[in-house]
Amino acid sequence: MKFNIETERLILRDFLESDVHGLFELDSNPEVHRYLGNNPIKELHQIPPIIQYVQQQYIENGIGRWAVIEKSTNAFIGWSGLKLVKESRNHHANYYDLGYRLIQKYWGYGYATESARASLSYGFDYLNLQTIYATAQAENIASNKVLQKCGLKLINQFHENEVLENWYEISQSQWGEYVP
Ligand SMILES: CC(C)(COP(=O)(O)OP(=O)(O)OC[C@H]1O[C@@H](n2cnc3c(N)ncnc32)[C@H](O)[C@@H]1OP(=O)(O)O)[C@@H](O)C(=O)NCCC(=O)NCCS
Repeated sequence: MKFNIETERLILRDFLESDVHGLFELDSNPEVHRYLGNNPIKELHQIPPIIQYVQQQYIENGIGRWAVIEKSTNAFIGWSGLKLVKESRNHHANYYDLGYRLIQKYWGYGYATESARASLSYGFDYLNLQTIYATAQAENIASNKVLQKCGLKLINQFHENEVLENWYEISQSQWGEYVP
């Protein structure tokens, strides 16, 4: 499966082996992992298996997170997109989850929102999904704002590893009525 989605400022494409250094910059930063369990990557050799894991999801599930490229510089800036979550979270399993993670120097430019909107459009308009879900730690203000700006609705909260998580949903019909 080859993905190549273009937005105003971004390209969303398949993970490539050559993304290894960009992903290391992303995932070795404790600030990036502040609301992700505080367990950043320590060694470069931990990255290739992550790339292979996502590439395997493209084959098995027809979808997985995409690399995000800034068009103006051609720089790898992080990842965004949909993932089929098979395990149970908050009493849901086998659901499509919206997520994103950006290298810190690219925060604050609206890139997460721009990429998330493109992911929702792909999920509803191309994959014809009925509902897309997302979670964010309640304290992760930036991520909660991104989800709300994209039209997702806060449904409930749950605890995971003693951390309070917000559970969001958006249906295909809500997406149809969504005005940015
Ligand atoms: C979450 C993340 C992807 C957001 O990326 P981003 O490109 O900066 O997001 P956007 O610019 O599209 O939107 C962020 C919004 O949060 C706001 N925001 C960010 N930090 C904030 C804070 N501390 N207090 C209030 N608002 C804040 C921004 O102002 C912006 O809102 P606005 O457009 O109304 O001004 C980025 O911070 C990141 O990668 N964090 C680490 C990984 C992570 O937490 N991923 C999500 C896991 S659920």
